[in-house]
Amino acid sequence: MVENKNDISLRTVEWKNNKVIMIDQTKLPNDLTFVEYDNFNQIANAIKTLIVRGAPAIGVSGAFGLALAVLQSNASLKNDLLSDLENAKKILFATRPTAVNLGWGLEEIMSVAKTGETVEQIKELVISKAKKMADEDIEINKIMGKNGSILFDDNDTIMTHCNAGALATVAYGTALGVIRATRESGKNVKVIATETRPIQQGSRLTAFELKHDGFDVSLIPDTAVGYSMANGLVSKVIVGADRIVKTGHVFNKIGTYQVATMAKQHGIPFYVAAPLSTIDMDTNANDVIIEMRKGSEVIGVGDKKTAPNDINVINPAFDMTPPELISGIITEKGIATNPFDDSIPKLFE
Ligand code: MRU
Repeated sequence: MVENKNDISLRTVEWKNNKVIMIDQTKLPNDLTFVEYDNFNQIANAIKTLIVRGAPAIGVSGAFGLALAVLQSNASLKNDLLSDLENAKKILFATRPTAVNLGWGLEEIMSVAKTGETVEQIKELVISKAKKMADEDIEINKIMGKNGSILFDDNDTIMTHCNAGALATVAYGTALGVIRATRESGKNVKVIATETRPIQQGSRLTAFELKHDGFDVSLIPDTAVGYSMANGLVSKVIVGADRIVKTGHVFNKIGTYQVATMAKQHGIPFYVAAPLSTIDMDTNANDVIIEMRKGSEVIGVGDKKTAPNDINVINPAFDMTPPELISGIITEKGIATNPFDDSIPKLFE
């Protein structure tokens, strides 16, 4: 554990003095605490235990994990170093299955590592690429934010689900980045955050982050999405994504599908904000692996048990929102709209 600071801008993950510094998101909202790692196994554990979470943040964390792995390696030959990196990559990749950014971040580093001629060169290349990816994540979020801000109006109340903010990225955020950019463009917006059962990314992280940055944010239970929309409290919805496939099916935090369905019912625009690194052009929607998590997250609230002993639990971490419920996918390269199988490939041109 490093230190506890309460009045700083949020940078979720950072490379400093050959170590990785992260906000420990399991301690939020009560403590803004930082952890420091010098071993890729610690990064793997941090991803698994949600010390760091959110698709872009785990993509960059995976890259930093490999940067630690090159420093940990005792290899004196290029091929031995590459095989140490492959081993670290496997361990990091196995941590969470749904967000495509993790595999993307690891592969970006591996392809740069393979271009190095000597052990020393590979080490330098890997570390500088991982640092660059972290800086680029912030830049991309800012561009995406600007692109998306045109879709939002003065005095909108924007609903968001889970946390797709600074805490889910290196900084600034995807969905919350669009909300930040909308405010920076001079428009006044309010936010409604769903609490996001079972592990409360909405109440623990989004509510914390938006209050930290001075937004007008209200928290609702997940069960109040329909009420809020039916009573005219919501102008638009924006969420992030863990994986978007070429047909426009969006995989995101469990409950997103319900929010999108309810938005359709009430004629409320439903937007998704995600970088191109979240778009997976190679996998079909039916083949995406949905992470199933442990029942203990569902049988209680905090430390308080709220279910009978030995109850069977179904606890998927993500769901799939079909393209017909989505008004637009905001990226750093522009906004894709239906038909997505036509507009998504164009983003890569
Ligand atoms: O289980 P989590 O907290 O990693 O889930 C995160 C989400 O579902 C986010 O909405 C998604 O990663 C987008 S982050 C910019």
